[in-house]
Amino acid sequence: MSILVIGGTGKTGRRVTDRLKARGHDVRVAARSTGFHWDRPDTWAPHLAGARAVYLVTNPLSTDTSKEVADLLGRTEARVVLLSARDIHSPAEAPVREHTGGWTILRPTWFAQNFTEDLFAGFMERGRLALPTGEGREPFVDLADVADVAVEALTDPGHDGRAYDLSGPELLSFREAVALLGRGVEYEPVTAEEFKREIAGFGEELAEYTAGLLVDIANGANAYLSDGVQQVLGRAPGRFADFVARVDAARTAGE
Ligand SMILES: NC(=O)c1ccc[n+]([C@@H]2O[C@H](COP(=O)([O-])OP(=O)(O)OC[C@H]3O[C@@H](n4cnc5c(N)ncnc54)[C@H](OP(=O)(O)O)[C@@H]3O)[C@@H](O)[C@H]2O)c1
Repeated sequence: MSILVIGGTGKTGRRVTDRLKARGHDVRVAARSTGFHWDRPDTWAPHLAGARAVYLVTNPLSTDTSKEVADLLGRTEARVVLLSARDIHSPAEAPVREHTGGWTILRPTWFAQNFTEDLFAGFMERGRLALPTGEGREPFVDLADVADVAVEALTDPGHDGRAYDLSGPELLSFREAVALLGRGVEYEPVTAEEFKREIAGFGEELAEYTAGLLVDIANGANAYLSDGVQQVLGRAPGRFADFVARVDAARTAGE
């Protein structure tokens, strides 16, 4: 029996896969490169076959993932660990809670790795991070912690029926986070309209959605800590400065 990691080539899935393999588990990855396509249900069965647990990153191209997740879970009795989000719960939470094979929901805050591997990485490389986040504060969570929690939830049935809010240990503004990353990058608070114009290339819907999430940060909606990492791992989550130190060390090693 294996553990299936849906989204196993992505930011969290990659880390979950590596950790499970290091513990000696039989792991299968599902992503387009392995022939798994969210929009082609006929590709799901070969991946789900023989899975005793599933790490579930939902379809990034879908706004309402509830129907396709219900459809997928109807085809397996494996335990499922869903990656949702703390301040905007995934629509997939509803079908996951109905799943009879056992479930755990993980709700992280904004990822520290957005600065290096995702959304903000391009801005950082260009030396100017212009966002409608004002001086609002966010408890960025390190994906090392999210992956450690996911592995526990996938391998220990003691987490059945639980939803965990996962944050880092401190509130940081984007100005403070960028200063800690320390690459001479300038942080500039801009209006939502300016930001949407800047990322218009990603499409109107995505620009609108992302701007809304960032304005919530400016308004202080995310400025509180959560203790899911302590609850599951029995230790404090990693600090942003420790994440930066790891990124710097990896850069130096790669030079
Ligand atoms: N970023 C944040 O700060 C943040 C915070 C809280 C929660 N979240 C949640 O985290 C989730 C994203 O997780 P992540 O960052 O680990 O993912 P990610 O890095 O965006 O990776 C997405 C994964 O999905 C696969 N994929 C993309 N399109 C696909 C398709 N059409 N069919 C099948 N597979 C497809 C990708 O692989 P291929 O491209 O190889 O197919 C990849 O493995 C989202 O649900 C988001 O709401 C994010």
